[in-house]
Amino acid sequence: MSLSDSTSTPSAVDGASLTFSPVGSPATAPVAAPSAAAREPRTVYIETFGCQMNSADTDVVMERLGAHGWTRVDTHEAAGLVLYNTCAVRDHAEAKVRGRLYELREMKARRPGMRIGVMGCMAQREKEALVKRFPHVDLVVGTDQFVRMPQLLDELDAREQHIVATAFEDFEDRMAVENGSTIPAPRLEGANAWVPVMRGCNYNCTYCVVPFTRGREKSRDPARVEAEVRGLVARGAAQVTLLGQTVDAYGKTLGDGTTLASLLRRLHAIDGLQRIRFVTSHPKDITDDLLDTMAELPKVAKHLHVPAQTGSDRMLRLMGRRYTRAEYLDFVRRARQRMPDVELQSDFIVGFPRESEDDFAATVSLMDEVRFAGSYVFMYSPRPGTPAQNLVDDVPQAVKKARCTHLLDLQLVHQDAVYRTLHGKTRRVLVEGPSKSDAAMLYGRSEGNLNIVLPRAGVDGVSRDPLIGTVVPVVIQRSTSLTLFADLG
Ligand code: SAH
Ligand code: SF4
Ligand code: F3S
Repeated sequence: MSLSDSTSTPSAVDGASLTFSPVGSPATAPVAAPSAAAREPRTVYIETFGCQMNSADTDVVMERLGAHGWTRVDTHEAAGLVLYNTCAVRDHAEAKVRGRLYELREMKARRPGMRIGVMGCMAQREKEALVKRFPHVDLVVGTDQFVRMPQLLDELDAREQHIVATAFEDFEDRMAVENGSTIPAPRLEGANAWVPVMRGCNYNCTYCVVPFTRGREKSRDPARVEAEVRGLVARGAAQVTLLGQTVDAYGKTLGDGTTLASLLRRLHAIDGLQRIRFVTSHPKDITDDLLDTMAELPKVAKHLHVPAQTGSDRMLRLMGRRYTRAEYLDFVRRARQRMPDVELQSDFIVGFPRESEDDFAATVSLMDEVRFAGSYVFMYSPRPGTPAQNLVDDVPQAVKKARCTHLLDLQLVHQDAVYRTLHGKTRRVLVEGPSKSDAAMLYGRSEGNLNIVLPRAGVDGVSRDPLIGTVVPVVIQRSTSLTLFADLG
């Protein structure tokens, strides 16, 4: 699609119609003509909402912009470009961005040359509706188009028209063709790095916006992932967390027998890499082969974040989760059989349409039965375009809140109990750095992803800072419901 074709009818331009634009031609759509204004400096203020995938995308976009002469600033006032990397998973996440955009209206009126860009899942979901609602927004950039941010900004300067670029495409291949390189390596945070290994989701949970905002599932080439991880380890990464919406489905779309288990084996062989994690898993994709591989490979953290969402079969069906309570509990049994110390983490949605007291009681009993080491609990938020939006959102807000508080309190009780069973036991902790809440302690995580702190100096007064970035055995001495206190074993 050429630029001139795409100027005709803005309403005809959406992600679907642009999906197959050839490499090199911009999949963009001008939708209105903001007033021409003098360019502002190439400085960017970026704020990231949502999940670790979005943080990883922010790293990529900042690297791309940096390569094109943009520098990062930490105030709106100093920024020639204000960029929001957005989340759409619940209305609350979008409301925050709407609030930010309203606030910027006055600044944009004062400084018409300043650019405002929205990228990420809300941009992908709303497309041109976003510039209709917020005419001071210059750029709407979808979840596969953000790698072209520098080019889109140049186009914006040349054309002085809003740009909406939301086509889905394999941007890693596009980058390979256009730049001779693939995705820039992720930023390191101390000893930690996060590596997206797949994007999109092929499930269609009835409440979830992610399949719309991230598109179909695409696994990255394992050789590219391996090269990226080798590079990160050479730069000092001790722990990598592999990211995907259903990361345990990794490899399916490659069609060559690659699985998450085979990727773990491949990465496990990298000298210097100390620990590998992966999030988030779907219960249906946890194979025995994956569990056996986790149990066998010492560098793979014994931690599984596998959202159950609810303990009620009726709710699971309405949510389109494609497993039963019994199948979820079977997964728990299979995991613990192979890895007695494995820590399990879940997400729960409360107040899904028609959730009765009995349904809620089934979730409570599932939690009692499993005793998760951690849980996120969310109140159901109807999302536009999802099948569940056709169900009446009939659980009153006050009931949703009460159920949410109930599960959060229950989780703390379970966590406290799980932590107490660890007193006197040894755990291998990857020391990540000084504790943020107490400078006299070092912070790290156990294999099971539990927060552990230990004294930053030994009784001899010798600093233990050299342990940062290494895995050490520690003995758990005491705990609160949030933190384990330990010392070197
Ligand atoms: N891909 C992951 C989770 C993606 S979203 C998975 O399937 O496990 C993260 C969590 O947000 C979900 O696990 C779910 O608990 C919650 N969530 C998603 N859509 C929601 C909605 N419409 N309302 C409330 N919570 C939601
Ligand atoms: Fe959403 Fe379900 Fe996909 Fe998770 S598995 S991203 S909840 S559709
Ligand atoms: Fe949000 Fe998109 Fe992540 S909707 S949770 S930022 S995939």
